[in-house]
Amino acid sequence: QEARAAEMERTFIAIKPDGVQRGLIAEIISRFERKGFKLVAIKIVVPSKGFAQKHYYDLKERPFFNGLCNFLSSGPAVAMVWEGEGVIKYGRKLIGATDPQKSEPGTIRGDLAVVVGRNIIHGSDGPETAKDEINLWLKPEELTSYSNNAEKWIY
Ligand code: TYD
Repeated sequence: QEARAAEMERTFIAIKPDGVQRGLIAEIISRFERKGFKLVAIKIVVPSKGFAQKHYYDLKERPFFNGLCNFLSSGPAVAMVWEGEGVIKYGRKLIGATDPQKSEPGTIRGDLAVVVGRNIIHGSDGPETAKDEINLWLKPEELTSYSNNAEKWIY
């Protein structure tokens, strides 16, 4: 059981400063939790501009890069690692399309956001970026590994 938990797929999810400001932390966590994914790391941080540039390095040539980094570093964000089978791909499904005008209703961005520059949440787009982003945002000791055995706690 322990060994299995250690191998389980993980993804990096961040609630961006607009999601925090709008009071959507619990709503967003709740959607991942109810799906059945497991929260194995969480902290609230104010990313520096330099940190935001590192996070979005792959987009450095895009015209919106500077505004995007200013936005990500504008206030507290919630950094999380979620674990579970298929969590990288399905996490992106829960989040919805990048542009909230195109995200389906029922997705986080579809239900809760309006414009692409304020789309409230980030999620890793593949196994490599998941690994890189977890390493960038969290120290190894900030990650936990546990199995859920509710029958031990519910009588
Ligand atoms: P991207 O990695 O393409 O999307 P996603 O967050 O869905 O993985 O882009 C990163 C962020 O950049 C995106 O969440 C919002 C912002 N962005 C813009 O502001 N304008 C744009 O035209 C695009 C494509 C993204």
